[in-house]
Amino acid sequence: GAARTPFIAGNWKMNLDHLQAVAFVQKLQWTLKDAKHEDGSVEVGIFPPFTDIRTVQTLIDADKIPFSLGGQDLSTKDSGAYTGEVSGQFLAKLDCRYVIIGHSERREYHQESDEIVAAKVQAALRYGLVPVICVGETADDLEEFGASAVPVGQLRVALEGVPADADIVVAYEPVWAIGSGKAATPDQAQDVCAKLRAVVGESLGADAAARTRVLYGGSVKSANIASFMREPDVDGALVGGASLVVDEFAAIIRFQK
Ligand code: G3P
Repeated sequence: GAARTPFIAGNWKMNLDHLQAVAFVQKLQWTLKDAKHEDGSVEVGIFPPFTDIRTVQTLIDADKIPFSLGGQDLSTKDSGAYTGEVSGQFLAKLDCRYVIIGHSERREYHQESDEIVAAKVQAALRYGLVPVICVGETADDLEEFGASAVPVGQLRVALEGVPADADIVVAYEPVWAIGSGKAATPDQAQDVCAKLRAVVGESLGADAAARTRVLYGGSVKSANIASFMREPDVDGALVGGASLVVDEFAAIIRFQK
């Protein structure tokens, strides 16, 4: 979509400790020195592990390239006796603008239900964080219900109680495409992303549908990014594996339609 700033987001998952993060971000900053995103035409987001966020924040502060920073998860709670949890207020204090919510790996390995995802969206909004709401169907879902039914249902629940003027990002990540090397086709991504945009419209209204960025994620790499970005309802990418390789991630950021 022309009016929406493309968003290329790197989800590091549980990779790169804080020392490796220093080397990685400095090399990325060097590589991108002359990139077109400096003119604001592409937003770049980095989602490191919690233990790296302070370090990455310092590197971003010291450089002129305006990366956006985000967490990979947050607690439904604000503070208190919740051992091991991380509050949205702590992320906000570290200049995080975003937080990934409901990634399929959280849903699968941490039993995050649609209701927990919805509670995390509310927690993010309480602290002015932009939730990057992840939805997507498994290979079994795809066979049984087609591509869009499950992600559409997940997004409906996640948006319950979200105000119409809220800033959100939606990420369509078909589970079968994550880390598999087998990306969805641009047509498939466009079809589901358009349906997810329609859900944003039903839940939050037409303005929100027009303004909200819908990303595709699942085996995005420099060789296929342009084909996704050509689609009218795909506004960017949530990148896993390829976000850990400086030259690959830089090439994705520099995509040409
Ligand atoms: O959140 C991004 C992710 O799940 C996609 O991973 O490795 O297929 O790009 P990957």
